[in-house]
Amino acid sequence: MDWISFYDFKHSIIYVNERHRDVHYRTIAQDIAGYVPPHSAQVLDYGCGEATSAHLVADVAAHLTLVEAAPNVRAALTARYATNAKISVMTPDEASAQPPASFDLIVMHSVAQYLTAAELDRLLGVFRRLVKPDGLVIIGDIVPPQLAAPAAALSLLKFGAANGFFWAAVGGLIRILLSDYFVLKKAHGLSHYSEEEMLTHLKAAGYAAKRAERNIGHNPWRMTFLARPE
Ligand SMILES: C[S@@+](CC[C@H](N)C(=O)[O-])C[C@H]1O[C@@H](n2cnc3c(N)ncnc32)[C@H](O)[C@@H]1O
Repeated sequence: MDWISFYDFKHSIIYVNERHRDVHYRTIAQDIAGYVPPHSAQVLDYGCGEATSAHLVADVAAHLTLVEAAPNVRAALTARYATNAKISVMTPDEASAQPPASFDLIVMHSVAQYLTAAELDRLLGVFRRLVKPDGLVIIGDIVPPQLAAPAAALSLLKFGAANGFFWAAVGGLIRILLSDYFVLKKAHGLSHYSEEEMLTHLKAAGYAAKRAERNIGHNPWRMTFLARPE
């Protein structure tokens, strides 16, 4: 099993219950919506997961393209947004084949940790081609090398306490400990980057980048980077 198949079938492990999943995606969608430039933006969300609040992003954009590698998750997205003409769903290959300079905003949130450094560099290159010269690429939820697991657990408990699912979050943490997540983590590892390392990757891929003041989503220990074509 790899991370894509983990996310295709085991997403109920990652989200402790439906409330967690929905608050999680609403928080991310609200944060992404805050970055959508005014006046008819074309937006790409790469590795969007279940994206149950994607309509909040589409509402403030001209069009939102959701890209998801996991086939069952992608099928669920296609069904969920079938009646929303402002949202389309694509495979990673379809997204890569879009014409150059197609998007004003490209977001990849909480995906880089599942990619090797070479895969990350390749995708940064794909985004560099797909983003408009005055567009923005956002790489979010970058996991720093130190204390990532305790920070993730604490962030989940705080998120649960603030949103009415604290005890479900406690139970969810125990289930995650017993799940394939740690087997996969041992087999494939997770990619971690310091702020300096991410800025180096982004610079090498042709961006002028900086770290955002706060991370998208609920984990303030992780980092979001804002990158513009150089
Ligand atoms: C934690 S989820 C993130 C979903 C959403 N962006 C969010 O922030 O909640 C990780 C996503 O990474 C995707 N993913 C994992 N490995 C990948 C790979 N090698 N290529 C493309 N997507 C990948 C999974 O399919 C999954 O949707």
